[in-house]
Order: sequence, then C-alpha cells, then structure tokens
Amino acid sequence: MFAASSSPDLLTILQCPVCGAPLAAAARGVRCSSCERQFHAPNGIIDLIDDEHPSSGISQSIMSSPLFARAYERLWRPSLFRISTAFRMPALSHERALIADALGGAKGPSLDLSCGPGTFTETLCALNSRTGVVAVDISRPMLELTRRRVPAALLIRAAAERLPFADAAFAAACNMAALDVYRDPAHALVELSRVLRAGAPFLLSTFVWPTALASFDRVRNLLAQAGASHAPLRDELAAMLTGAGLQIDQLSSFGSYVIVRGLKKERSC
Ligand SMILES: C[S@@+](CC[C@H](N)C(=O)[O-])C[C@H]1O[C@@H](n2cnc3c(N)ncnc32)[C@H](O)[C@@H]1O
Ligand SMILES: [Zn+2]
Repeated sequence: MFAASSSPDLLTILQCPVCGAPLAAAARGVRCSSCERQFHAPNGIIDLIDDEHPSSGISQSIMSSPLFARAYERLWRPSLFRISTAFRMPALSHERALIADALGGAKGPSLDLSCGPGTFTETLCALNSRTGVVAVDISRPMLELTRRRVPAALLIRAAAERLPFADAAFAAACNMAALDVYRDPAHALVELSRVLRAGAPFLLSTFVWPTALASFDRVRNLLAQAGASHAPLRDELAAMLTGAGLQIDQLSSFGSYVIVRGLKKERSC
C-alpha cells in the first residue's frame, strides 16, 4: 500500500496530527490508536495534513500546482534561484555532495523536509535506504513526483509547522530551500529540532534578507502577509536555529542563499 516497503518499521514513528497518538496501518491508509481518525494514503502518499492548517499564501499555492511542480527542478530552481542570488547559487551537485557528506551513514531514519520533486530525497535514499528515508511536503503534486522518482521513500503530506512524527524520530534531516516559504519559519525549526535525535546532523538552506535591510520591516512584513516570502534576516536565521536547539557548525553564504550544516544540540536550553 505504501512506498518504503523495505522499511515497514518506519510507520512506528508516525503521530496523529490531531491528538499526537501513534498511528498504525489500516485498510486504506493509517489509523490513530487513540482518537481513531483514519488518514488516507492515495497513491501511497499518507495524507497527514491538518485541515485547519492555514496556507502560507502565494508561494505555497504556486508550489501546489501540478504545472509548477513539473517545471520546478528544470526551470525554476536553476533560473530564478540563480538570478536571485546574483549568479552565486551553488550547483545542485554541490548541494548533493554537502548532503552526502553531512547526512550519509545515518544510524536511523532520515528526513527530507519539504522534499519538492525529490531533488534531494534521491540523494538521501542512495545514502541511507537501509535505515529508511521519509519525504515530507505540503504539495501533493510535488510528492507525486517524488514517489515516481524515489519509490523506496515513505511519503507524507504534512506541514513543516506541525510534523506528524514522534519526538527524536530521525537520525538525520535536510530541509532545502523551503524555510523562507513557511508561514512560521521559527516554529518549523522548533518542530524540526523536536523530531531529531540529540546529536543528529542536519543540512538546511534558505533565502535570507541581508542585514542591511533590517530597517525595511514594512516591506518584509508586506511580503510575508502576501505569503510571497517569509525569509528571515541573516542574523535572525542564526537566532532562530539556536533558539530551536539546533547548533550551527558551518554557515555558507551564496548571495542571498545560505546553507547551514549543524547538529541537534545534545540538550536544548
Ligand atoms: C522551493 S521548494 C524546495 C524543494 C527542494 N527541497 C529543493 O531544495 O529544491 C519548497 C518546497 O516547500 C514546500 N512547502 C511549502 N510550504 C510548506 C509547509 N508549510 N510545509 C511543508 N512543505 C512546504 C513546497 O510545496 C515546495 O515543495
Ligand atoms: Zn488521534
């Protein structure tokens, strides 16, 4: 019924998005052991989105369109990302190598949070298929593409701000080029930290506003209200990560695109 047939144990990390109790496989998807809600898994994609979840606006709506999903990796990512970083965007192969270096050989399940069309899920699966890979996105068309490309991954439709996984479920995670489109990036980082084991490595990338724009709050707020961009200031990003209990080991800037490599702190304070 689901993908990830090689790692059925992965289902044990799933949590009901409504009450937080464990989920178990059921006839047409998964079922909550406590509130008994059923969640369907059309095409093997387990839909754990909380219907109350508010959309973050324009960007999220665009990314939920099938046409955009198909064009994203070949057209949008290489063109718009390069232009908005003044052509300093690293090559995809560079990002994949960073993932391999940071997250390869995980001693438990790996998470690709906001997997898009599976751009890095494929890399994670090549590295860590034995211990299981879970790919999450809010966009069904993106998840459909990931399913076709990486059939071994367990595919979950969920919001980054409310991850349907048990605490400390993952031994490694990546979250690439998505933080700036979340409605609440700081809360999404708290969730990412919650589902990581102490000491687990992560790789994250996001667009940021340069610190010089700190006084342009009104413009940033307008863009956030429209859901066009929730990008943090460069300094805010570091504070958000640290506040969420995520330790920054390396932060590399490519124009407005930042890649952070780090670890979930042994003990968050
Ligand atoms: C720019 S794409 C990045 C895809 C891929 N990780 C990459 O690096 O190319 C951003 C992704 O975040 C997803 N997304 C947007 N809001 C989300 C949310 N609240 N929770 C989970 N995923 C979300 C979008 O559907 C989209 O697939
Ligand atoms: Zn429940």
